[in-house]
Amino acid sequence: MKDGVQAWGVGRNFSSREEDVVALVDVSLSLTWGQFVVVQGPSGCGKSTLLNLLGLLDRPSVGRLNIAGVPVHELSEGGRARLRRAEIGYLFQDAGLIERMRAIDNVEAPLAYRGVPRGQRRATAEAALRELGLSHRLRALTDTLSGGERQRVGLARILAQRPRLIICDEPTASLDEANSRLVAARLMQLAEEGALVVCASHDPIVIELAQRRIELSHGRLKTIADGPP
Ligand SMILES: Nc1ncnc2c1ncn2[C@@H]1O[C@H](COP(=O)(O)OP(=O)(O)O)[C@@H](O)[C@H]1O
Ligand SMILES: [Mg+2]
Repeated sequence: MKDGVQAWGVGRNFSSREEDVVALVDVSLSLTWGQFVVVQGPSGCGKSTLLNLLGLLDRPSVGRLNIAGVPVHELSEGGRARLRRAEIGYLFQDAGLIERMRAIDNVEAPLAYRGVPRGQRRATAEAALRELGLSHRLRALTDTLSGGERQRVGLARILAQRPRLIICDEPTASLDEANSRLVAARLMQLAEEGALVVCASHDPIVIELAQRRIELSHGRLKTIADGPP
């Protein structure tokens, strides 16, 4: 299997008529499948910018980036979209669910893009939701779910899709402790099962599980270390 994620000299600037923001400068790193990686640093240091680049939601201003052996800086928009759908799962602070849609449909809908046969989609989605303790909420509309339930639906979507790269931006920031522990433990388990999980967080519950920590400061890589602090 081609290696996880490599970046060489990656930078990102945001330029407008009013200002030029240097959000990320000269980031080089190499992350392999099967790691739980936590990205740390104060607000505004570039965590989300880095995750958006690694998750192919944004393009670097400079530098090169490989995902699963593919030089993604060379891909067309279509090629990037295909790689996103085939390999990458996302979990944000707000689960990013489709509103006024049932929990089960939120998990099931993206499976079509992953090539899961129609006959298996419902059962796969249902199993993922049950595993996260949502058997009684399968048919609930997302608007009626609590914050913890919403995030578990977002996580169920990842469990059902089994992406190789999982990008999480402050996934426990609006959760209570029990839900934070559940989400963090399940992300860790996905890494143990072979996924590369890259998670921006200041939550001690998440940080103590880190196998690698990337610390950013003013858009620059400050440290990369193995294990929790
Ligand atoms: N789309 C954008 N346009 C202009 N500036 C941005 C944009 N996105 C992020 N920034 C700036 O880049 C810096 C890093 O932001 P971000 O990656 O969101 O930090 P973090 O996630 O660590 O809080 C900040 O100064 C932020 O204001
Ligand atoms: Mg952020």
